[in-house]
Amino acid sequence: MESARVAGFGPTVFSEFSRLAAQHGAVNLGQGFPDFEGPEEIAQAAIDAIRAGANQYAMTQGTPALREAVAAHALRFYGQRVEAHGQVGVTAGATEALYAALLAFTDPGDEVVLFEPTYDAYLASAQLAGAVPRFVRLRPPDVAHLTWWFDDAELEGAFSSKTRLVLLNTPHNPTGKVFTREELLRIGELTRRSGAVLVSDEVYEHLVFEGARHLRPATLPGFDDFTLTVSSGGKSFSFTGWKVGWHLGPERLVSAVQKVHQWTTFSTPAPFQLAIGRALALPDAHFVRFVDDYARRKNLLAGSLSRAGFEVLPCEGAYFLLARTDAFRRASEDDVAFCRRLLLEHGVAAIPPSVFCSPAHAPAMHGLARFAFCKSDAVLAAAEERLSRLR
Ligand SMILES: Cc1ncc(COP(=O)(O)O)c(C=O)c1O
Repeated sequence: MESARVAGFGPTVFSEFSRLAAQHGAVNLGQGFPDFEGPEEIAQAAIDAIRAGANQYAMTQGTPALREAVAAHALRFYGQRVEAHGQVGVTAGATEALYAALLAFTDPGDEVVLFEPTYDAYLASAQLAGAVPRFVRLRPPDVAHLTWWFDDAELEGAFSSKTRLVLLNTPHNPTGKVFTREELLRIGELTRRSGAVLVSDEVYEHLVFEGARHLRPATLPGFDDFTLTVSSGGKSFSFTGWKVGWHLGPERLVSAVQKVHQWTTFSTPAPFQLAIGRALALPDAHFVRFVDDYARRKNLLAGSLSRAGFEVLPCEGAYFLLARTDAFRRASEDDVAFCRRLLLEHGVAAIPPSVFCSPAHAPAMHGLARFAFCKSDAVLAAAEERLSRLR
């Protein structure tokens, strides 16, 4: 029999929509991975590492060359100083670090503050750890707010004497929000006051648009004490299948996460660690070209959606567009039903964003759909063509 820990876990909406998309030949703007290759020299670095014999267990903390590259990257992009040996750890993607952080910093019944909509793995990890989620709703842009925002009293109310962890994602999936300095300072103040750990998931750190600037919370005054930064090579270098992630921060936080890592996966594939270490050291020009290319894809898809009649919400970061579906959605449809019909009748797969919310707050997402723009020009052109028939 299944344990209570996994009760309620079933196939995700992502697998359902990917299956339906394949079955019906739909243009798949659902799942968030690029359908194009990362830099050739980085792929070659992985092949070279295999040929050179990097084929046995890597050190559990991570290959020294990758940890040094993570530390150098933190200094280069954020002026953040961390010691490669002690203040950096490596895991199987960011996902493992986030799961390990939940296990490392909470006991059953402890509380975790989460911003909703929230990346679905956070909730699953909280459930596995027996931690209790306390939600802060991100609310869509309105007359008074240019981007997604949260209510300060609601944020404060989410903290209690049981808060042990605050799980933040900036740039944010699925809203595209990049948290501002003022917002981060407030979140940090409450985190510090409650004695909790701030885990900052920054897997989209190199995907920031529209004049927004990604601020690494750990570099704000006083934050280095209680902040663990998590990131990975999947999104930044278009190698999501390699699952190389890392975390950095104070030694006591890194070593707690590493205690879980040691007894779950133990180590991360050695050749891919070496290749991602090389990727982190790519020249600045690579990162500029990368974000310019994504801005182009974003504008292409936003144009297609707007011309079709969707209202596209602002996207400051990550690689998803949220669009209002009011022009097409039937009165009886929620976002899941709408996305299913969009796929079956119009051949375009999108993700219903209510899957990123607890049942109580899911209705706030019913008028939206999430479209991924990490897709090749051919796929984006096919999406334009199919969406144009909706008009
Ligand atoms: C917010 C967020 N965090 C983490 C991940 C997973 O990262 P990784 O593939 O490195 O485990 C994703 C992937 O979609 C994500 O959107």
